[in-house]
Amino acid sequence: MNKLNQKSTLAEIYANPAGKDILHKICLQLNLPEKMIFEKSPAKKLTLDGLNKLTGGKFSEGFFEALLSILNTDAQDTKREAVLPKKEIPWWKTAVFYQIYPRSFCDADGDGIGDLKGIINKLDYLKDLGVDALWLSPVYDSPNDDNGYDIRDYKAVMQEFGTMEDMDELIRQLHERGMRLIMDLVINHTSDEHEWFQKALADENSPYRDYYFFQKSSEVPNNWSSFFEGSAWRYFEEQDIWGLHLFSKKQMDLNWDNPALRNDVIGMIRWWLEKGVDGFRMDVINYISKREGLPMGDETIGAMMEYTGIEHYFYGPHLHEYLHQVRTQAFEPFGAFSVGETPGIGMEMAKKLTGQGRRELDMLFNFDHLETPGHVRFDDYRYDLNYLKSYMTDWMEHYGPDCQMALFWDNHDNPRMISKIEPDPKWRVVLAKLLAMIQLTLKGTPFLFQGQEIGMINQNFTSPSQLRDIESWNLYEKLCRTMPAAEAFAKVAAGSRDHARTPMQWDNTAFGGFTQGKNPWIEGDGDYVNCNVEEQISDPDSVLWFHRELLQLRRQYPLFGTGKIKITNKERKNLFTYYRYDGKDVFYVECNLGRKPLYVGKRPKNMVHIMGNYADGGGQTLKAYETNLYRVSKK
Ligand code: GLC
Repeated sequence: MNKLNQKSTLAEIYANPAGKDILHKICLQLNLPEKMIFEKSPAKKLTLDGLNKLTGGKFSEGFFEALLSILNTDAQDTKREAVLPKKEIPWWKTAVFYQIYPRSFCDADGDGIGDLKGIINKLDYLKDLGVDALWLSPVYDSPNDDNGYDIRDYKAVMQEFGTMEDMDELIRQLHERGMRLIMDLVINHTSDEHEWFQKALADENSPYRDYYFFQKSSEVPNNWSSFFEGSAWRYFEEQDIWGLHLFSKKQMDLNWDNPALRNDVIGMIRWWLEKGVDGFRMDVINYISKREGLPMGDETIGAMMEYTGIEHYFYGPHLHEYLHQVRTQAFEPFGAFSVGETPGIGMEMAKKLTGQGRRELDMLFNFDHLETPGHVRFDDYRYDLNYLKSYMTDWMEHYGPDCQMALFWDNHDNPRMISKIEPDPKWRVVLAKLLAMIQLTLKGTPFLFQGQEIGMINQNFTSPSQLRDIESWNLYEKLCRTMPAAEAFAKVAAGSRDHARTPMQWDNTAFGGFTQGKNPWIEGDGDYVNCNVEEQISDPDSVLWFHRELLQLRRQYPLFGTGKIKITNKERKNLFTYYRYDGKDVFYVECNLGRKPLYVGKRPKNMVHIMGNYADGGGQTLKAYETNLYRVSKK
């Protein structure tokens, strides 16, 4: 294949898999009609040089270099020897995962912070709900600058959460119930309090010096920005040296180009797998390979993507190679499962990262469905479910038969999906059920986030003092420099990750039954009186029971995880319908994605209504956000 260069046209760039993903991402961000531009309009004939002239040098030369380097490296990445796929379907393809944010799930010892014993106390609840595996956000020893995503010791448990014995007990009790556990693997960075970093900083001849990115320089080494505001470089005065941190000042990036670091990380992963853990969710795993020399980021791209420098590490030159090494040396010997958190990775890149036979990741989390194009998390706007339909249709039809999507709406880094779509409480229950139906019947592996099963929504935060997340604090401080405090707070409150981090609502007693002791580390707004597990358990029409029924159905019919899908009514606004089937059974799902009634007419006689979100649903006109599931029998 010819190498792409400055004379290559946009159409040629678009024909390159990584190029297609990058142009797709830019179009999403700017809300531009992608196919129209790159397949039909005369713009597709523009060369990179031409584009540069046309935009008056808006993109730096470095940008084109970085782009071409990503594309050409990717094109060279040859197929790895395929391992013959096993005949049996791997467990995670038909499983339903449940993500626990341990700090806010259940507090057994009364200190206001959730803990491992609290999780153990709720295992029967989770088993009854029907989940197959848990993903725990980090429980390792940490100074908690970013709530555990800043690890001080990979082989110790955070004191507030309990002990290693509690951890062993959790694994044992899960396995006893036929459930599995995946942990969070944060290996793009460590805490600055990690022994490796401490040693590296203290002694320039330490073997750990090269575990991180240090630079001697009279000024900040480059223009990369941190995801949590400001520069990505921290100056250590005493040592007169700069250290790289893509996240908070206390989350120092690891240098994966160092083979010794990779070996240590691999050893640590194996240590946990030996303990019986079943796999890992790998935190920002696509950021581990940084472009050599850490070149300046392009300012235009930085402004567009919100972070400067990102083109040099979101799909770095050795990403595939390092993942392959970790996979073959740590995961495969234990038959362990991996799901990567991969912000910015598009479908074509995803096909490589998760392609069968390539031996890198089993699945990954793509994030492009979480905001309607043209919006970012901190915009206060209403999400359009028609976008979710088009996004899902695209992935369902093009990701490929071997690749399995990780399906999720909520997690600890995002406001609650229900609130993004429709803050009016009138629609809360029907909408929670509609979202459950889509997530649990599309093809893929669903990841529920704690509280989703009862329809938890955003918090009514009224003051910055209620927020706990470092990302929210830093953003608030920055915005206050240029706008009135009230406006800054409104913006932060629209997208704060804390919406998802308030205590799980177990019952209607104080603090929602999350703790019997002190005030929780973060407080909710009292919504537990409207929405809690205890009340929903005794109400067969509840959101909780809707989830339970769907999970039961999935267990009975593996086709929901691995069977085929055929999406119909693609062009019709607000109507999302599809068939799920294998050689034996056929199901039909229909959803009204809007509030307006939607006429669908009579359904064929061989469709039997199984469940829906209205007691009198399934008529010829779908009500607001109505969804129904039918079993289709042979005529
Ligand atoms: C991931 C985590 C997020 C954390 C960040 C840095 O995105 O999900 O919570 O702040 O990585 O580790």
